[in-house]
Amino acid sequence: MNRSIATLLFLSLGILFVCEGGNPCCSQPCQNRGVCTAIDGNSYECDCTRTGFYGHNCTQPEFFTWIKMSLKPTPNTVHYLLTHYKGLWNIINSISFLRGQYHEISYVTHLHV
Ligand SMILES: *[C@@H]1O[C@H](CO)[C@@H](O)[C@H](O)[C@H]1NC(C)=O
Repeated sequence: MNRSIATLLFLSLGILFVCEGGNPCCSQPCQNRGVCTAIDGNSYECDCTRTGFYGHNCTQPEFFTWIKMSLKPTPNTVHYLLTHYKGLWNIINSISFLRGQYHEISYVTHLHV
């Protein structure tokens, strides 16, 4: 069997097994796609890297996330912004783009340290 598939199977079985024992991560406390890590039987930590959120449960929006959320609370508002403030939307898009670049750079730097 392919080694990585075997590892994946092993990990999924491990997660199932741990969940029966009352792993705090099984209730999925980490919001916004944060990655949960159990510390012991009843506490956990959320890795909020790349989610745009911070806090114990990744529920606090970062500054840029907050701006984006404030600017598009409803699809109608998004449509309105897109049709009336095209320039503004371009600025928001380039901010997200720059943020993405920054993450890529730091990721690559970590790999080469
Ligand atoms: C995180 O989630 C847990 C379980 O949903 C909750 O009890 C706790 O108060 C939350 N903590 C924060 C800082 O939001």
